[in-house]
Amino acid sequence: MSPHPVRVLTGITTSGTPHLGNYVGAIRPAIAASRSADVESYYFLADLHALIKVQEPARVQRSTLEIAATWLACGLEPERVCFYRQSDIPEITELTWLLTCVAGKGILNRAHAYKAAVDRNRAEGEDDDAGINAGLFMYPVLMSADILLFNADRVPVGRDQIQHIEMARDFGQRFNHLYGEHFRLPEVEIEERVATLPGLDGRKMSKSYDNTIPLFAPRAELKKLIFSIVTDSKAPGEPKDTEGSALFQLYRAFASEEETARMRQAYAEGIAWGEAKQQLFERIDVEIAPLRARYEALIARPQDIERQLCAGAARLREQIATPFLRRLREAVGLRDLAHAPAEAEADAGAGAAQAPPQFKQYRESDGRFYFKLVDDDRVLLQSVGHDSPRDAGQLIARLKREGSAELHHLAGQGVHLGQHLVGHLAEGVAVEELLEALARFAADEA
Ligand code: TRP
Repeated sequence: MSPHPVRVLTGITTSGTPHLGNYVGAIRPAIAASRSADVESYYFLADLHALIKVQEPARVQRSTLEIAATWLACGLEPERVCFYRQSDIPEITELTWLLTCVAGKGILNRAHAYKAAVDRNRAEGEDDDAGINAGLFMYPVLMSADILLFNADRVPVGRDQIQHIEMARDFGQRFNHLYGEHFRLPEVEIEERVATLPGLDGRKMSKSYDNTIPLFAPRAELKKLIFSIVTDSKAPGEPKDTEGSALFQLYRAFASEEETARMRQAYAEGIAWGEAKQQLFERIDVEIAPLRARYEALIARPQDIERQLCAGAARLREQIATPFLRRLREAVGLRDLAHAPAEAEADAGAGAAQAPPQFKQYRESDGRFYFKLVDDDRVLLQSVGHDSPRDAGQLIARLKREGSAELHHLAGQGVHLGQHLVGHLAEGVAVEELLEALARFAADEA
């Protein structure tokens, strides 16, 4: 057991209006988790992240207000959890620069969000980086600063964010290696069983599909939207399938087990779609109506929310961020010129802290296990996927032992160990570099 309560941290990008999918998938479970006694929860409004994609000031402001009011209306207790706005903590941006200077550019080149943008450009015959701002490229470094500044133990995120947590670990480790143990390395907490809610058209509810139901739509609008959910054309009296029914899934996300069983029965008995929609509407509204009332009261008094957020940030800065950044500045050499450096440090000189090449294992969103070989922050080799971490580990062990002698590279077909496809050279890496790095392992083992 750890001696301190587990610190759980997560950010919410303030770039939209919360919808039912956000509520069921993120807000409701996060608030329930924040009530557990042995965790210390940090929830923040990631407004600096929002600037990457929203460049309309009024929308950034409005979304920040709406999201803050939503979390408070849904029961977040600002006395119990740390609730703050990212941009109120200038130490986050300062740390972003310190981490930028240890982050491997090659690692950022491989970030999914950036790569996807490049791929879209390529597909359209554009320049690789056309229309891409450097904020998107640096996104994982800012996110690492969010996490490392508060030494979070766990970061609950969706699968699409796993890679960002890996990067935070990587940058934190790199920094620790150069400047001493300053950061705890965060663990990803994948929310496996998070309900993804279907939207109006049956696809996942998502702003990008324009199929959402705003969480705090007024009652009349909520009703109208629910009645517009797509169903099949079965007539009243005909038995209906719960499987694949968006309506049923939505109902289940709000109802108790007994209510869900009753609805299942009603489907089998041929409930009319109109009736099922009416029941769904009432069931959602029973849960949301009291929250909606609180939300409306909160949003009518933005100055109270502003005050709460400022107080949250001030407390965190005073207790954690400001003193921590003072230590980090000292550690990297941003120092009082009148203080002499410690002797050991003065002797060490440049290059002494060069990291040896390293194999890094990780799991991708496809559920398979991968590794890469990294030398001084440059990725050399990217493995193929494996079914288990053990398979990946055994191959790594073989590579360390025999790789430098047995490895060969077939142009266009990847790197092989005997008959075995190991993976692929990273862009711009020559096979000689890979062999050299592997030779260092073989030398260490001998
Ligand atoms: N990138 C996250 C998202 O889009 C939001 C985020 C910003 C975040 N900083 C974070 C999440 C730090 C967890 C930890 O969902």
